[in-house]
Amino acid sequence: MEFNSPAGSNLFDKPKVIGKSTPRIDGPLKASGTAPYAYERHDVAANPAYGYIVGSAIAKGRLTELDVGDAERAPGVLGVVTAANSQKLTKGDFNVVPLLGGPEITHYHQAIALVVAESFEQARAAAGLVRARYERGSGRFDLAAQAGSADPIGYDPQAKSPIDSLGDFDAAFASAPVKIDQHYHVPAESHAMMEPFATIAAWEGDRLTVWTSNQMIDWARKDLAKTLNMPAENVRVDSPYIGGGFGGKLFLRADVLLAALGARAAKRPVKVAMQRPLMINNSTHRPATIQHVRLAAQRDGKLVAIGHESLSGNQPGGSPEVATAQSRFLYGAPNRRTLMRLAAMDLPEGNAMRAPGEAPGHLALEVAMDELAEALGMDPVELRIINDTQVVPGTDKKFSDRNLVRCLREGAERFGWSKRNPRPAQVREGRWLIGMGVAAGFRDAPTQHSAARVRLREDGGISVETDMTDIGTGSYTIIAQTAAEVMGVPLERVSVDLGDSASPVSAGSGGQWGAASSTAGVYAACVNLRRAIGQKLGIDGDQARFEDGRVILGDRSFALRDAGPVSAEGEMTFGKFKDDYQVSTFAGHFSEVAVDAYTGEVSLRRMLAVCDAGRILNPLSARSQVIGAMVMSAGAALMEELAVDKRFGFFVNHDLAQYEVPVHADIPEQEVVFLDTLDPIVSPMKAKGVGELGICGPGAAIANAIYNATGIRVRDYPLTLDKYLDRLPAIV
Ligand code: MOS
Repeated sequence: MEFNSPAGSNLFDKPKVIGKSTPRIDGPLKASGTAPYAYERHDVAANPAYGYIVGSAIAKGRLTELDVGDAERAPGVLGVVTAANSQKLTKGDFNVVPLLGGPEITHYHQAIALVVAESFEQARAAAGLVRARYERGSGRFDLAAQAGSADPIGYDPQAKSPIDSLGDFDAAFASAPVKIDQHYHVPAESHAMMEPFATIAAWEGDRLTVWTSNQMIDWARKDLAKTLNMPAENVRVDSPYIGGGFGGKLFLRADVLLAALGARAAKRPVKVAMQRPLMINNSTHRPATIQHVRLAAQRDGKLVAIGHESLSGNQPGGSPEVATAQSRFLYGAPNRRTLMRLAAMDLPEGNAMRAPGEAPGHLALEVAMDELAEALGMDPVELRIINDTQVVPGTDKKFSDRNLVRCLREGAERFGWSKRNPRPAQVREGRWLIGMGVAAGFRDAPTQHSAARVRLREDGGISVETDMTDIGTGSYTIIAQTAAEVMGVPLERVSVDLGDSASPVSAGSGGQWGAASSTAGVYAACVNLRRAIGQKLGIDGDQARFEDGRVILGDRSFALRDAGPVSAEGEMTFGKFKDDYQVSTFAGHFSEVAVDAYTGEVSLRRMLAVCDAGRILNPLSARSQVIGAMVMSAGAALMEELAVDKRFGFFVNHDLAQYEVPVHADIPEQEVVFLDTLDPIVSPMKAKGVGELGICGPGAAIANAIYNATGIRVRDYPLTLDKYLDRLPAIV
């Protein structure tokens, strides 16, 4: 089914199940510890051996010797896989650097061997006997030092110029009466998900199955096949439960490849969980950015020029962190220049992490807006409101549905914004300096084609199968809600199987497209099932009503179960008409902080997000998505940083003890409000994603609140107290 014109009135307009707060149907499995995560799939492969990964101790250079003899002779060892003894491997489409290194080494902790043994302990002990000698080359590890060698890179590699330009930025900026010209640093960040990369691999002849943890089943399947030079039909990927991904599990990673190679070497199933200390340097991260924001306005606050340039680095062949993305869409201004520069570097590969681009982009743009508001003597909420735009600036392309102004107004009202003192460092409560901050939020709402298979079972229930994943987001539940709604059965009558490449190919979980796309695919399959049921009953399934377990047309009524079993597949594709619109999500983010006047310690007090994302399929799970994203944004603002060893080229704090993320005690009262909007351009469900919207803006609102509390502007994230302790207001 193609979605080729705006959604009109449809069966989701009078929903019984969709749009209702619904506890996650997979919740009991997770709460009871019985949701089968990859490493604990004890029933899938008999007698698995254990793999232990050896990572490179240098960042750049060559292996001159890799002696695995002692390891191979160690007790219990079944084999040692290295690039030298494995088959020829082809690099997959989604990886920038090889997942198994040697003799060439391209980043620190790049896998150079997998030791396979009868037990985990034996594999670990033998890994300690692998002797590697290296010839260390010189590498590029300092982003600022690479600025001079960085090339401009556009959003679209096909575009004529890498520079996004509107009007005459230089002239407008030079002549404007009020302007801001500042640099912001956002360090590299890690996904730091709870569940490590983990895989069980088993061969049956030339067929390979991997039970793993991955967000995009079809990408993983194809890339694994490509890497191993085998047909994709012979690869099965199964990932029904995922303990966090955040973009880190979008792609094939080393655990999968090494488990497959290890299983072939050992001639039996092999399980590999990447050791926690390897997680950060072995895999991908959000690249650091150095961002230059220039804003110019008339005295009435109208923006006349927006300039945003961002420098990031990556392995040769990698992409930039698209930190300027939101700056083309958030505010109207007749003159604009956004520009990214990309430096070739030798740190581990940078890649997508939750709201790639916009998450760090807001930490710069939305603080610059706060600085501009102050320079203008204007309320920062009002400044954003008067610069709202209903078209993409410089074009006549309309936003499909944009209610940023409502987000900001309703947010200000609910948060008690009018109580904020616009003069910084004025509000004291005992030892605490109190401040409030605001930021706007923007993130696109793309859709991807998505397919599903649905079945009316003999017992009258509905089964759904799709390779869609649930990365902790609630996919199981919104898919069950969709099938229940369209087939007219209660939620408990729907079962959902996800994450298996044997099922039809879905949109997968990424770019906050999963909810909108995968439910549309399930809807398409259900429409086909209704037709098939109609055919069996001798009526027109398109005309019939499916409700309360019955199929009704005119004065004829059938029990749904009498039509079963019957199954159908369907796929939703999204037509060209969408290109005429900018389909995006919006938010108003507010925060209140208390800063210890003596120590500079920041205590977050309140956070509020008012979100505009069309129909909310399940307010309960959508809220969980947004509060989780707000926590990550608070982490980015206050504590998260991958510290770079610029001499040896690695992230020093490479485990959960050293990479600091917020804990419960760091997170205060969080409130999430969804506007009651519908977006007919996005999909038949009129629903957009929220999983990434929630990380776009809260960190900036926190930074702005800290300024309001203290009068200190720190533009170097995270905002740790060492960066401003000596500037705290005098106490007497
Ligand atoms: Mo997202 S960074 O596409 O998982």
